[in-house]
Amino acid sequence: MSDSRTDNHLNQSFVGEAKASLRLLAYAEKAMAEGYLQMAKLFRAISEAEKVHALKHLRLMKLVGTTEENLQASFEREISVSENVYPEMIRVAEEEGRVPARISFSQTRDAEDFHAKLYKNALANMLDERETTYHVCLVCGYVADGSAPDTCPVCGAPKEKFKQVD
Ligand code: FE2
Ligand code: FE2
Ligand code: FE2
Repeated sequence: MSDSRTDNHLNQSFVGEAKASLRLLAYAEKAMAEGYLQMAKLFRAISEAEKVHALKHLRLMKLVGTTEENLQASFEREISVSENVYPEMIRVAEEEGRVPARISFSQTRDAEDFHAKLYKNALANMLDERETTYHVCLVCGYVADGSAPDTCPVCGAPKEKFKQVD
């Protein structure tokens, strides 16, 4: 990708809008917890709108390849975060005595490792498109291929914490 100013701006906009979209979902959850149902709806609506902006600018960066390329790129990113990025974050959190952050980084690293395996498996079986259902652990982000396990292999959460993704 060339690094013209507009390319940098597209990237900046993608990152900023993507963060805003998720931040607003957290705000919506908070509003729900405080009983502000309409405010929660507003946050969710604008979150959806920021997602439109983020996706539009991501596409304009022309970084979305073919499905095979996207599987390969996603596999490589998971390997990189689980082997390089998170181990360093775990080390620093340990050093700074930030226990909840350390535990979360560590579970996240383990979950990413499983994500990498799912991509690898999918790449090997691209043509037969085996039918399956995925279940995501809403506590740690582990993804189960097929039915939800009784307890999450990464964080130990029970089956009820899994969300089916179609
Ligand atoms: Fe926006
Ligand atoms: Fe991941
Ligand atoms: Fe989990």
